[in-house]
Amino acid sequence: MTNQNNAIRFYSGHNIPVELHKVRIVQKLYLKPIDERKAAMEEAGFNTFLLNTKEVFLDMLTDSGTNAMSDNQVASMLQADDAYAGSQSFYRMEAALRDVFGKHYVLPVHQGRAAENIISQVFIKKGDVIPMNYHFTTTKEHMELNGGKVLEIYADDALQIKSDKPFKGNIDIEKLKAVFTEYGKDRVAFVRMEASTNLIGGQPFSMQNMRDVKKICDENGTMMVLDASLIGENAWFIKQREEEFKNAEIKDILLEMCSYSDLIYFSSRKVSSTRGGGIVTNSKDLYLKMRDLLVLFEGFLTYGGMSVREIEAMAVGINETCDETVISQSPSFIAYAVNQLDDVGIPVITPPGALGCHIDAKGFLSHVPQQEYPAGALASALFIISGIRGMERGSISSVRDENGNDILADVELLRLAFPRRVFTLSQTMFVVDRVKWLYDNRNLVGGLEWVEEPALLRFFMGRLKAKTDWPEKLVAKFKQDFGDSL
Ligand code: F0G
Repeated sequence: MTNQNNAIRFYSGHNIPVELHKVRIVQKLYLKPIDERKAAMEEAGFNTFLLNTKEVFLDMLTDSGTNAMSDNQVASMLQADDAYAGSQSFYRMEAALRDVFGKHYVLPVHQGRAAENIISQVFIKKGDVIPMNYHFTTTKEHMELNGGKVLEIYADDALQIKSDKPFKGNIDIEKLKAVFTEYGKDRVAFVRMEASTNLIGGQPFSMQNMRDVKKICDENGTMMVLDASLIGENAWFIKQREEEFKNAEIKDILLEMCSYSDLIYFSSRKVSSTRGGGIVTNSKDLYLKMRDLLVLFEGFLTYGGMSVREIEAMAVGINETCDETVISQSPSFIAYAVNQLDDVGIPVITPPGALGCHIDAKGFLSHVPQQEYPAGALASALFIISGIRGMERGSISSVRDENGNDILADVELLRLAFPRRVFTLSQTMFVVDRVKWLYDNRNLVGGLEWVEEPALLRFFMGRLKAKTDWPEKLVAKFKQDFGDSL
């Protein structure tokens, strides 16, 4: 532990975030010429999800399944025990999850949304409400498919782009009380807290907020469900930003967070840098309610849709989530990028959070109406001028209402994800440099319109096109400034 703490002091005492790991296996990357990048973007329907990675230089789409694995994780995969039932790999993972989360019953699933499916089917009935700090896309769809309604009860200023509030992911306690008064406890399926709240810019909640939420849940006899996909980073922010925890061990912070949760689910693609996911609880009753659906949808209880090699890597990965040098790497690089952009007036979410650097597309492209999807346009433009693939987190990621009108998103964000221990500082500097160039030339970027719009989760598979010839103009300006350079 002493070594780790030294490392952290080094991080916070200097402006250069330093990699506390060395690179031993690498993958070659290609930066294609701008005309090829533009053609690839058109081919992908101005949707970065539909790009082939052979066209991508820096893949900042997500940290999901893209964190770097450690040598110990890769090594563990060699001892995987192939067995349909009773695999030793499962018992090793179960022991690791019990240790880190402090929960006895473990249900493995193939990824986070599979956990959402099971939890929603078992615990939500038609007409229920589910109060939470903020929704995640797949979470909301599963809850609504089962007749539930999501209620987002964040603080009034949580969506403010520029802020110095350390815990924008907190649930507003007065609003939570009001939910119970308005709907009555029988209609509240459970309260959900999402660690490092993804869609509002990777913003954490505080331990005190968890305690306050848990108290209200207990008073009403309601379950508290924790989405722990980004729990490591949230614990890191608690240590950094909540006085009481400044000398605490991450492992103890994690255990205390989990102690307030009746049910915890997670995407292992994030929290333990492998594939898969899981649900854990200390309640045998809750466990038994979910067990049958697990076998039906995911596979037998000792693999749940995961390969035994992934299960081994998850056992090691979840332990590494207690290591400060592992969980602080992505937030440190994000903070570097956010501060560099903020310093020159580019609108980014502050304070820097987990998962990625979130650029405010409404502020960046203030001339593009929200109906023309500024976050999608910004994601496309950045790819064309840099080969950097980010993710639209705005109105394209939203849905239409019953009359077919777009429900415009609260915030229009371009997320540039920093998977753990993947990008170097010079790559991060390249990102900052290209975003700055785009900001200087932002007036050239225009809006998007639909070509093919799927009814469900349209942002994954939908295709759009530029409303005008703005991509041509952007490419022309790029060539004027950089000539033949990539
Ligand atoms: N919960 C949160 C908070 C997430 O961020 C995700 C996935 C899920 C649940 C679903 O997990 O992908 O394993 O099924 N987030 C990814 C992202 C997709 O890019 O942010 P999954």
